[in-house]
Amino acid sequence: MSADLSKKGISTRAIHAGEEHDTASHSSAPDIVMSSTFRVEEEISFSANNLETDTPYVYTRWGNPTNDQLEEKLAALEQAESCIAFATGMAATTAVLLGILSKGDHLVICDTNYPGTAEVARNTLPRFGIDVTPVDTSDTENVSNALRDNTRMVWLETPSNPLLKIADIASIAKIAKGAGALLAVDSTFATPIATRPLQLGADLVVHSLTKYIGGHGDAMGGAVCGSREALDHLRTEALSHFGGVISPFNAWLILRGMATLPIRMREHAANAMAVASYLENHPRVEAVIYPGLESHPQHELAARQMDNYSGMVSFRVGNSKEVAARMMNDFEIIHYAVSLGHHRSLMYLLRTEDLAETSYGLKGSELEQYRAVAGDGLFRFSVGLEDAADICADLERIL
Ligand SMILES: Cc1ncc(COP(=O)(O)O)c(C=O)c1O
Repeated sequence: MSADLSKKGISTRAIHAGEEHDTASHSSAPDIVMSSTFRVEEEISFSANNLETDTPYVYTRWGNPTNDQLEEKLAALEQAESCIAFATGMAATTAVLLGILSKGDHLVICDTNYPGTAEVARNTLPRFGIDVTPVDTSDTENVSNALRDNTRMVWLETPSNPLLKIADIASIAKIAKGAGALLAVDSTFATPIATRPLQLGADLVVHSLTKYIGGHGDAMGGAVCGSREALDHLRTEALSHFGGVISPFNAWLILRGMATLPIRMREHAANAMAVASYLENHPRVEAVIYPGLESHPQHELAARQMDNYSGMVSFRVGNSKEVAARMMNDFEIIHYAVSLGHHRSLMYLLRTEDLAETSYGLKGSELEQYRAVAGDGLFRFSVGLEDAADICADLERIL
């Protein structure tokens, strides 16, 4: 008998949602369907434009049973009507930006965020006649002031990379709606365990599944969640036509990772709090940013908006390049590597000259403000699931 999972708790949904009972094999775990094409038993259009929700499987770029299971599980966690999985987080991001915005539209976007998204907004969108205004979205008034008659979308990332700024999703959703603009939220750092932006009024949620949701550093993926109406168009244009479809094998790995997301996030947050407190008391550490710390400038908003502070900690020390070199050679358990949200701890120095100047194009007083927080660079620490004492011991030897 299948239960109505929408009434179950988030841990139950993480394990059971989307996992269709296979009536042929009666398998308990989901099978993988790797087939790129499917035997067709009725007349079906050769154009993805004619896809209906009840069209049988035809070709994996249009739809695949394993990818569908991943989409259904994530939709159940985000409490979304619909979800589309993509090959990477950037495929999901560009699907939303290029699949919705058109020439003459205006986008308001956070001024500091994941550099790939920042670079697409600043370098790619203007080529297609889309105006972009980056603002500090941790102050809602900046968003209000940036809105224009042709603003079609507001894009937030919360917590944001790497300053871990929090944007007030509910307030900004009201403002965006009032101006007839869509609100898209990159919720990769938060995950649905911490924040469900659609429930706070956002129209679209974007995830890099490569991070916490997959959780094990072995599969890339991305996703967009939202209303069925909003996503039907993207499924044809951005998935079938732009073509960034996820491999069913990666979808299967991420589906497996997602089942333990609630318990992993509890441990990530507990370890991050232990590490952030250790760093805050370390004499060589000049600044620590973690939404769970009372010293975070938006701790109150984070406490209101997030059910879990997640596992990302940013910190600053003097001689950062020299410290980074020591980390590369001398860490015992922490990997000096990009990415985040894996079970292994990952550390990387985000140099201000790369990020603030190249990716965000900050100049003058804006660059000065960034430097006041980040200095020459911030260490972005994705605190893993190892024992907190071992993580701190690894840091202690380096610092
Ligand atoms: C917040 C955020 N959004 C999007 C992405 C892009 O995801 P992917 O690397 O899966 O393309 C990343 C990657 O680091 C990210 O940190």
